[in-house]
Amino acid sequence: MIKSLGNCVVTGASSGIGRAIAIEFARYGAARILVHYHRNRSGAEQTANQIQDLGGEAFLVSADIGDPRGRQDLVNKAWTELSSIDAWVNNAGVDVLTGTLAKADFEQKLQRLWEVDVLGTIALSRVVGAQLQKQTSGEHRPSMLFIGWDQAAEGMEGDAGQMFGPIKAAVMAFSQSLAQTLAPQVRVNCVAPGWIQTAWGQQADPRWHRRAQQQSLLQRWGTPQDVAAMAIHMCSPSADFITGQVVNVNGGWNRKPG
Ligand SMILES: NC(=O)c1ccc[n+]([C@@H]2O[C@H](COP(=O)([O-])OP(=O)(O)OC[C@H]3O[C@@H](n4cnc5c(N)ncnc54)[C@H](OP(=O)(O)O)[C@@H]3O)[C@@H](O)[C@H]2O)c1
Repeated sequence: MIKSLGNCVVTGASSGIGRAIAIEFARYGAARILVHYHRNRSGAEQTANQIQDLGGEAFLVSADIGDPRGRQDLVNKAWTELSSIDAWVNNAGVDVLTGTLAKADFEQKLQRLWEVDVLGTIALSRVVGAQLQKQTSGEHRPSMLFIGWDQAAEGMEGDAGQMFGPIKAAVMAFSQSLAQTLAPQVRVNCVAPGWIQTAWGQQADPRWHRRAQQQSLLQRWGTPQDVAAMAIHMCSPSADFITGQVVNVNGGWNRKPG
């Protein structure tokens, strides 16, 4: 049984994995949830509505994590609205596959991923971590969670592998150094999703569907809810002896000959 959570923040909660995590926090009894988004206000409102349907309290904050002022504004609003924070999930990431950047060239995509997913996320979480470390009023030891990628260390062919590999490997490596820095006051972990069927997966052609099934021992795409279930466990007080870990959520990588 997972013990309940208090106040939580989820960045990039207007769609996909972030929305699923924010809703899962509400399902497990989180009192107040900060639903962060960048541009998709209606998506963030849908997330908030689902949280409220589950009896949770949600409030929305928009900020560009690639902009120092946006990051500072997010931190200020988070600690103004929530006197203490039990879980902070760094999920936001630039969509270079289906959004307006889909037609940009490789270097432009890499540049924006670097600004937001790496530099922005690291800068933001250093400030957040220092604040969490100083908290004395929370009910539980607070935790932070990052989102990596299961193939980042091993590598994958093509532009996607060459972009997301170094970007998400940097996030995963940083999370482990932050865990060393913030212990014992704050736990820091990372979830590394595999083939998760979010916006890109829904419109991908059949060969990607076959690949997602074949590369998972459990022979299916993962869902945002699969990632959310692990995220909530890693953030919950039930996982109080777990820090500095990177956990794959990919149905088990299939090494069996095809
Ligand atoms: N889907 C997968 O298979 C998969 C696999 C491994 C890792 N991941 C990682 O999991 C995370 C979520 O992925 P997803 O597929 O759920 O993505 P998604 O649906 O595109 O959601 C991305 C979220 O990040 C926000 N965001 C984008 N740019 C931002 C910026 N400059 N500042 C602040 N927020 C920004 C978006 O906000 P707005 O839409 O409101 O602008 C949105 O809420 C990402 O870090 C991704 O790299 C995904």
